[in-house]
Amino acid sequence: MNLKDEYIKYFVEHGHVQIPSAPLIPENDPSVLFNTAGMQPLIPYLMGKPHPEGKRLVDYQKCVRLTDLDSIGDKTHHTFFEMLGNWSLGDYFKKESIEYSFDFLTNVLKIPKEKLAITVFKGDKDIPRDEVSANVWKSLGISEERIAYLGVEDNFWIAGDSGPCGGDTEIFYFRSNDEVPAVFDPNDERWVEIWNNVFMEFNKAKDGTISELPSKNVDTGMGYERVVAVLEGVDDNYKTSIWKEIIEVIERVSNKPYLGNEVSMRIIADHIRTSVFISADYAGIKPSNTDQGYILRRLIRRAIRHAKKLGIDMNSDYICEIALEVIKKYENYYKEIKDNKEVVLEVLKNESIKFNKTLEKGLKEFSKIISHLDSDTINKEMAFKLYDTYGFPIELTEEMALENNLKVDTDGFYEKFREHQELSRTASAGKFKGGLAGTGEIETKYHTATHLLNAALKKVIGNDVHQKGSNITSERMRFDFSCDHKLSDEEKQEVEALVNKWIKEGLEVTMEVMSKEEALKSGAEAMFIEKYADIVNVYSIGDVSKEICGGPHVKNTKELGTFKIKKEEASSAGVRRIKAILE
Ligand code: ALA
Repeated sequence: MNLKDEYIKYFVEHGHVQIPSAPLIPENDPSVLFNTAGMQPLIPYLMGKPHPEGKRLVDYQKCVRLTDLDSIGDKTHHTFFEMLGNWSLGDYFKKESIEYSFDFLTNVLKIPKEKLAITVFKGDKDIPRDEVSANVWKSLGISEERIAYLGVEDNFWIAGDSGPCGGDTEIFYFRSNDEVPAVFDPNDERWVEIWNNVFMEFNKAKDGTISELPSKNVDTGMGYERVVAVLEGVDDNYKTSIWKEIIEVIERVSNKPYLGNEVSMRIIADHIRTSVFISADYAGIKPSNTDQGYILRRLIRRAIRHAKKLGIDMNSDYICEIALEVIKKYENYYKEIKDNKEVVLEVLKNESIKFNKTLEKGLKEFSKIISHLDSDTINKEMAFKLYDTYGFPIELTEEMALENNLKVDTDGFYEKFREHQELSRTASAGKFKGGLAGTGEIETKYHTATHLLNAALKKVIGNDVHQKGSNITSERMRFDFSCDHKLSDEEKQEVEALVNKWIKEGLEVTMEVMSKEEALKSGAEAMFIEKYADIVNVYSIGDVSKEICGGPHVKNTKELGTFKIKKEEASSAGVRRIKAILE
């Protein structure tokens, strides 16, 4: 039996339409690096937009979650995973949703109900305790002792900080050969969560206010790899049919058994699989030092370090051999894997050639560093040298430090990293002056102007305007922002006038370095909060604007000249675009 196919079949038979898995790199949502849940591409529809395929949907969705990166190496976590999901967009609600899940688990998958336990939302000051769900579970034969009521941290689901959300009920399976306890203890790790049914009735705005959605929806997510492990009766996901052949390739290229080498082998298997999916995406991501490219680089380099640890021959083609096994597994389900096979192999090969050049020396440097330490901390200079000279992502240095019971001055590393960025920016601005006269300067001006425009739009249109993207050339700036209507002429004039007023006032632009938390607490705007490192630059313009941003910016707004809006148009659903110039 193939779980993916059975799942789709079951929900299609129950009136759902299968929709394709959305790309791993979100197309219209710059607020996240990767799709993290099946519901992510469906947000507009959960918010009330009619879906072209109707009110009942089902799919399997590729997801990448990086929150558990440190847990990779254990039996149940993965950076990439597939989520099986079914949705009701204002159609059925709690009762039917729970009944479908129960029917699928016990009648199709034949999981005995005695091995299941449930959590439901215990409610908070605004939302009542979910007795409705608990009663449905009881009516299906789940005993009261197997139902736990938990709070917001466990049974209220939202993707990030804002958006559609609601209380949920989670289904747990007893993954152990021990006798199943009569009373469910959610802290007992033998119980693993396999499916989450979220009852999305609310929307949380960026400022924290909760309002009701136009319809009551259901969003469910079942962890594919976990349920396969349940069905195959193993207590280690990497022993399932999903990973079997991939682990076998790693055993062959390392000439070592899985037993005794689990952690490194799981990390290699997990990270290479995720790297295959990231580099196969049609977005064309390549290893780099920013955004998705940096994640890709980190994953590949961490896998390589563990390969080295296992004694795999660094000059062999092991990385492509492992990747080919991953490709073989997924190419019939995901077209991009088939289409971009060669691209993937090239990305992996090139990145490993690059890292191999410095890895050996970097590891020697690391040993030297730790043998000369006079404290338990690798200082910022050492961490930065490992990064800058030997290409060790800071997280890799941290991991290696931990293996030696040491710490790393990570905050200090980021400080140095920022200083270094500023220096290279100044250097390249200098280069611009010599060759392409003025190019760097004008772009810097436009960059500052986007902050003023963002602030002006908030004042004129409302605080729920948020930046969705921007693009700067030496000729113009382009700025995308969330807004549900075409701007009127008056609104455009007001925005323009406000920006020009701030320019004339000669507001000072200042920069502070602080932790991401501090920055957010201080009220700084952030476009891609997940994308930033822990330490960020916060640019303030007088007291009209405060944003987390990499810069560079002018020192004073009077350097900007005159700001003119040239065009205002739709960019995508709920997103408007302004093109503007400085004269
Ligand atoms: N969106 C829910 C989750 O990711 C189903 O758990």
